[in-house]
Amino acid sequence: MKIGIIGAGSISESHLESYHHHPEVEIFAICDLNKKRANEKANKYQATHVYTDYLQLLANKDIEAVSICTWNNTHAEIAIASLQSGKHVLVEKPLCKTVEEALKVEEAVKSSGKILQVGFVRRYATNTKIVKKFVDGGDLGEIYYAKASCLRRLGNPGGWFADKERSGGGPLIDLGVHVIDICWYLMGKPKVKSVSGNTYSKLGNRSNVENLSFYQAADYDPSKNTVEDLANAIIRFENGASLMVDVSFTLHAKEDMITVNLYGENGGIELEPELHVITERYNTILNAAPQIDNKSFDFVQAFQNEIDHFIASVKGETQTFSPVEDGVEIMKILCGIYESSEKGIEVQF
Ligand SMILES: NC(=O)c1ccc[n+]([C@@H]2O[C@H](COP(=O)([O-])OP(=O)(O)OC[C@H]3O[C@@H](n4cnc5c(N)ncnc54)[C@H](O)[C@@H]3O)[C@@H](O)[C@H]2O)c1
Repeated sequence: MKIGIIGAGSISESHLESYHHHPEVEIFAICDLNKKRANEKANKYQATHVYTDYLQLLANKDIEAVSICTWNNTHAEIAIASLQSGKHVLVEKPLCKTVEEALKVEEAVKSSGKILQVGFVRRYATNTKIVKKFVDGGDLGEIYYAKASCLRRLGNPGGWFADKERSGGGPLIDLGVHVIDICWYLMGKPKVKSVSGNTYSKLGNRSNVENLSFYQAADYDPSKNTVEDLANAIIRFENGASLMVDVSFTLHAKEDMITVNLYGENGGIELEPELHVITERYNTILNAAPQIDNKSFDFVQAFQNEIDHFIASVKGETQTFSPVEDGVEIMKILCGIYESSEKGIEVQF
């Protein structure tokens, strides 16, 4: 199967490496606005076609499927054009920037009949797959509460991530998308009823901080930052369940932290930072530590699983378990939180 990669920056490496390890895939074409970057990846992975205009890549009839690894503001446009050119699509998270765009992508999926998989990579991680078995087996009972945090004390990547026009927002759309999605997915995708959120831009990007390094985008420019540095929200679902979340690019916190917890009537799960199963038996509380190689999010294996699943879906052997409808629902939640914060009200759906 001949694959094209659109966007040859940081995350494309995880897609390329995973496609490279897939026995039925040929990395055929790479496209990036930055020709040097596209050429470097093409040389590394022996891609024979290099483009700077994604429409030219899409015009190549040999390509069956594409990975979209570009800035968030281009996802919808490129996904729709790809589907209309007859390509199957794996698009990085978030699906796009707005609900309107998300609905247009969904329409293009329906009218093209092609597969679109949203890059909710945490769904494909080993620890998530284990938890899904516990959830589906009824070990937690009804999950009525989830709580997720992804707090960076210093970690605004700058560049396009810090440019609201290109990213759609800060830590909420970049980090929140992952932790909200993983909770929502494991809760059984309940229908969202309302969201109430707050965003804060109090600390800026803190480019003044010395002696502490953090990840910076290729086009890092400390003078530019138009995104929030903290967001929090409470999300209510129609079945009565709720989800509390907070995420930051920077915060006066002692250290970076990630927690993803699910609480049900029969048991609880701590998915991050380390998998634990909590329950009660014979009037005694049990904290069980599963004996597995990776107790946390296994980045490399999760990407391999995601790419393998995408290829199997394209071949008709399975169905993607991160379809476009889920991307639309997550965009409703994310955009609802931004709207709630802006207007100072709870947004009802
Ligand atoms: N799943 C994850 O864990 C994860 C992690 C990081 C980033 N991402 C997502 O991946 C996407 C890319 O992020 P990144 O960190 O690789 O950014 P990046 O800046 O390193 O790379 C993005 C690349 O896209 C190129 N590009 C932008 N618009 C283009 C267009 N119209 N045509 C061709 N090329 C274009 C840029 O030139 C750049 O090289 C984002 O949507 C981000 O949210 C996902």
